[in-house]
Amino acid sequence: MTDAESTHRRWLDVAARLATSGLGSTGTGPTVGAIVVDPSRQLVLGRAVTPPRGAEQAELLALADTKGLTEGRTLYLTLEPAAHYTAFPPATDPIIAAGIARVVVGALDPDRVHAGEGLRALADAGIETVHVTHEPSRLLNEGYATRVTKGRPFVSLKIALSRDGMAGYGRPGEPLPFGAEAQRFVARERAAADAVMSGAARAEIEDNDLRVRLSGLEGRAGLRVILAGTRDLDQRIELFAAVSGIPILVVTTPDRPLALWRGVEVVAIEGRRGHPELRHVLALLGERGINRLFVESGARLAESFIAGELVDRLHVIDAAREIGRSGIPAALLGRFDDRIAAARFSEVDRRVLGEDNVRTFERL
Ligand SMILES: NC(=O)c1ccc[n+]([C@@H]2O[C@H](COP(=O)([O-])OP(=O)(O)OC[C@H]3O[C@@H](n4cnc5c(N)ncnc54)[C@H](OP(=O)(O)O)[C@@H]3O)[C@@H](O)[C@H]2O)c1
Repeated sequence: MTDAESTHRRWLDVAARLATSGLGSTGTGPTVGAIVVDPSRQLVLGRAVTPPRGAEQAELLALADTKGLTEGRTLYLTLEPAAHYTAFPPATDPIIAAGIARVVVGALDPDRVHAGEGLRALADAGIETVHVTHEPSRLLNEGYATRVTKGRPFVSLKIALSRDGMAGYGRPGEPLPFGAEAQRFVARERAAADAVMSGAARAEIEDNDLRVRLSGLEGRAGLRVILAGTRDLDQRIELFAAVSGIPILVVTTPDRPLALWRGVEVVAIEGRRGHPELRHVLALLGERGINRLFVESGARLAESFIAGELVDRLHVIDAAREIGRSGIPAALLGRFDDRIAAARFSEVDRRVLGEDNVRTFERL
């Protein structure tokens, strides 16, 4: 790697780290980190990330943050700027007008129709352009890229396994099998998602309202999606009863209409055996601009997602505690690890969470 490339990577790392905190809050567009650097002194003159709900463009905010010191400077962006009209006019125009000398991007526009267009428009205006294939920039926009290319959100699914291989107690009133660190991990994943999904029975059994309980991030919870099944929903549970202002979408099937509190949206989607078809549920979320979906599943919902090949990243929390024989086994047959190996998942990360661990898998 040349000196210039390692310098570019370092600044892109900074831009990606800055922007990661915005995940789950930036609305339907991409989450972008932008830094303006004085190349001779290697000094940051301006920086920005996509603000809440994507109300403005990070590249323009970073230019403004320099207070006019843009002439001849380098702009680092985790994503190529758009040269076409999106929710905004092309971002390339103000970059050209600002006199930026070089633009370095960590990823191209994921939409094949537009990939490379932004860099070409800048190059045509005499700006030096560099594309570094930068993994943190790609990760930042895997949600947006999945929605643009597949019409559905990027799906992260979490399942917690007790030491004896159970995924739940199956009855109300029992404590969670995992500790505080693992709960914080789950809360951070919720905060970084645009929508959180759970099966109906779990919402009732755990009276889990799917909100983010992390200091400073309480407002972060996105859409809460509940997949109704064949049973009636208990409307007295915290999820439905508490007024939080965080929207709830209940997905049912046409043969099972549900009348819920006003304020809870109910959508019917065709399915089988009383379960809405997951592919269509995800397409609906994609249409609504949901880039990142975090699914908190028990055994049956996990199996439906895995069997449908709809899981992009799988988090298995290995809890230190046992549940005992009365619990619900995580795999319908055999061991859960064998099930995910058969589905061609490979471990890509492993972390200690206090007394518990989390293993992360992707299909490679
Ligand atoms: N270990 C974990 O991380 C974890 C996470 C969530 C829940 N749990 C535990 O698991 C136990 C059962 O909760 P749960 O039944 O809600 O778990 P689940 O397996 O996550 O979800 C099943 C629920 O979703 C409904 N559903 C709708 N569409 C579905 C589909 N396509 N595939 C599968 N299910 C679909 C089911 O309806 P029907 O009833 O009609 O089948 C059922 O109500 C509880 O003890 C809960 O605490 C553990």
